[in-house]
Amino acid sequence: MRIFSKKGMLKIAFVLICLISQILQANTRIVITSTPKIQNHSWSKSKELVVRSMDLALSVDMDAKKIHGVVSYQIAKGSEGKKQSKFDLLYLDAKKINILGVYTSSNKKTALPYSSAVDFKSFKKFGWQHGATPVWRFEEDNNGTNPISVGLQEENIDLFGEGLVVLIGKNNRVTIEFEVGLSADALQWLSAEQTRDKQYPFLFSQSQAILARTWIPCQDLPSVRFTYAARVYVKSPYNSVMSAEKVGVEYARGALSDVFSRSKKLAWKNAYTDYKPAADILVSNWMDYPFNNLATPTSVGTSGDLLICYRFAQNRPIPSYLLAISVGDFRYSSYRITDDKNIKETGVYAERGYLEECRKEFVRLPEMVKAAERLYGQYVWGSYRVLVLPPSFPFGGMENPVVTFATPTIVAGDGSLVSLLAHELAHSWSGNLVTNATWEEFWLNEGFTNYFESRIMESVFGKEYADLLVNLAYADLVKTVEEMEQDSQGRLDTRLVLDLENRDPDEGVTDIAYEKGRFLLVMIERKIGRDNWDLFLRSYFSRHSFGVVTTQGLLAELKYFLLKGVSYSITENGFIPNEIERHPAPSRLDSIQLSLPSIAFPAGELKDYWDKKYRFCSDFMLAIEKDWIHGIGLPFDGIAAFPEIESAELLRVDGIASRYWSSGVDKLDRNKTMEQGVTGKVKATGKELSLNQGSVKEMDMPEVMACEFHRGGATRRRDVLELDTTNFTAHHWVHLLRRLRSMGQLSVNDMEAIDERFHLSERKNAEVAFEWYMLGLKCQYTTVFPYMEQFLLSVGRRKFVLPLYEQILKTQENALDMVSSIFYGASPGYHSVTRKSVTELLLEYNR
Ligand code: BES
Ligand code: ZN
Repeated sequence: MRIFSKKGMLKIAFVLICLISQILQANTRIVITSTPKIQNHSWSKSKELVVRSMDLALSVDMDAKKIHGVVSYQIAKGSEGKKQSKFDLLYLDAKKINILGVYTSSNKKTALPYSSAVDFKSFKKFGWQHGATPVWRFEEDNNGTNPISVGLQEENIDLFGEGLVVLIGKNNRVTIEFEVGLSADALQWLSAEQTRDKQYPFLFSQSQAILARTWIPCQDLPSVRFTYAARVYVKSPYNSVMSAEKVGVEYARGALSDVFSRSKKLAWKNAYTDYKPAADILVSNWMDYPFNNLATPTSVGTSGDLLICYRFAQNRPIPSYLLAISVGDFRYSSYRITDDKNIKETGVYAERGYLEECRKEFVRLPEMVKAAERLYGQYVWGSYRVLVLPPSFPFGGMENPVVTFATPTIVAGDGSLVSLLAHELAHSWSGNLVTNATWEEFWLNEGFTNYFESRIMESVFGKEYADLLVNLAYADLVKTVEEMEQDSQGRLDTRLVLDLENRDPDEGVTDIAYEKGRFLLVMIERKIGRDNWDLFLRSYFSRHSFGVVTTQGLLAELKYFLLKGVSYSITENGFIPNEIERHPAPSRLDSIQLSLPSIAFPAGELKDYWDKKYRFCSDFMLAIEKDWIHGIGLPFDGIAAFPEIESAELLRVDGIASRYWSSGVDKLDRNKTMEQGVTGKVKATGKELSLNQGSVKEMDMPEVMACEFHRGGATRRRDVLELDTTNFTAHHWVHLLRRLRSMGQLSVNDMEAIDERFHLSERKNAEVAFEWYMLGLKCQYTTVFPYMEQFLLSVGRRKFVLPLYEQILKTQENALDMVSSIFYGASPGYHSVTRKSVTELLLEYNR
């Protein structure tokens, strides 16, 4: 007797399979409880599974301040990945993102058509199912196996986000539908009021360093690169840019909410006849896409229910911190580059009413791009454009590929602050093409970029101007180091390679990475000669393009280069650059182990020479490592000592400052005994002494810099005519004002006299205005306070905002009242980055 029919057998098999798969599902929950760990500021285990490309569809509702998005990832095995199994989990960084759904694809072979992510019908066709696969968010309790309890600490979630884990099994496609809005720290949603034209709201993102995860779930660390394609849906007449080439514009009648509707179908039309459908873009290809000049959608009109879809393609792999978007009523103006084969276009985006002014300000941009290419090789990102944002942008600039984002505070009217563009442009090589492996080595991005920036400036504006800027930066660096050395963490943070474990990478954003980093490169340049150094840099950028770099790797390569690839001679005094090497390298050097402490060269006539050369290079590299990379502060001696910095122009300013300063004080007579009843201050070679009475003679003061005697409380007015500002640029002013601030206290009378003559309170140049406010606060020159307050209410650039609040706290009697009243009004208009920094400052102050 047959107990089970064939059909019955099948049924039982089916039930068994279901049971087993249930058990397996349960097992996967055990897998997930293996403690997730933050590594390099990311939850993603990108060595196991890595996101190779992203296909994005974003509908941006400027009124509701919301982005509704669908992102589809193509996933591959990471560098240490094993063959994918059905238990494979994809770890993504995500912070405060509202996840609406997760879809995995079982259809491995099917390449998705371009941005099919929006078309749910085609999801189904390609085997996608809504919610078919279990998904965990770290913050959720999954039947008692809440991963938070095993791995994640509160403070980590605050800083790094709660993350997102997807059971992808053997699939290589995952699609996530999500929504982000006001709580996305990267995004700033500005009201029309906060823009220049005051007509339309404005949106921009700032992803560096770890904020990309607040608006798109991603593997948010600089060592993972991916390509992306995107569609951005907005209402007319908004424009949009992303950190990608714009490859198409379409329009349709409808409401934004229809974009992701599963029932409604919008009839999209191409806005341009020369538009080439992007359906053939496979986002994982790095192929170039033919450029269409589609930046300004003039032909689509502006009426009522018109929707625009901008298509973007970033066919070169980028790290997540370079993901960027902006939406607003901005327009584009191009400086065409006709004779440059690599660069498609340079140009400027700005709000309509500002476009012409910005365009004028940046006219030297094409020259800069060419200079940069001449220096370190081909520009690889297609076009180079600048978007001028509203003043709340928290940084000076952000090097988003294809479109640099910039603060309007560099639009000074006289082109005086365009070095910032040289900086962001330089990032197209240092940073975007060759990227710091982790944020602890941030100096590899910024130090190299600062160096490169000044080379571009030299090439376009001349050596004198470039040197002036470098010297200003140097003065800043010395001051920063002095301040940082005051506290124990700050001291450690004066090293080039930082320890940022469990810390916000933002803490590494100091003058150390930027300026100590730059001067290390200046030092090397001077030691080995510019030709050699440029040769090294060109090869560095090309060998590591679309890759990551580490400090250790850099040092090893440099050592090898010094031994093998440089034209210099070596003498008792070290390198003599630009001489032809007369002693060919022994063949043994080819296989040299750079980590060996020494190398024995074969006997013979070259032995002594090569012994010496090897020793010299080794010592040099060791000194760099010890004094610069891991050394506290700045190294002022040794074979890798800090380079000499001098600028005749800044010395001229110093002279003016000194003459002005002493014009109002009694000359110190060393032989005179101070009169009864006179008090004063003498500043001499750095020391400041308070005097009551007594013999000045007794003091040992080789070089009196300034002295001040108060008789009955009155100070003589200084002679404002001593301030000879002939040929002063904004940079001269910045230096002069800083200098005066460091010399001591000016009387309100003096401040008034300066203001009367130079109208500094009304200066529009943000750098000059900032320095004037800083000095005004120090000198209790209250006339300037309303101007400063106005500045703090509109400008959100952290570099200005933070020191101003700090200076108020340092110098004002009613500091807390003053700061809180200004901050209360201003903070809703700040980007989260600036707001966070100011809040931390206030907390620190209250402690
Ligand atoms: N990439 C930085 C800005 C940044 C750094 C944002 C770290 C977030 C985290 C940009 O290139 C930059 O350095 N900007 C400077 C200007 C530059 C001329 C020094 C700035 O914003 O002031
Ligand atoms: Zn930078």
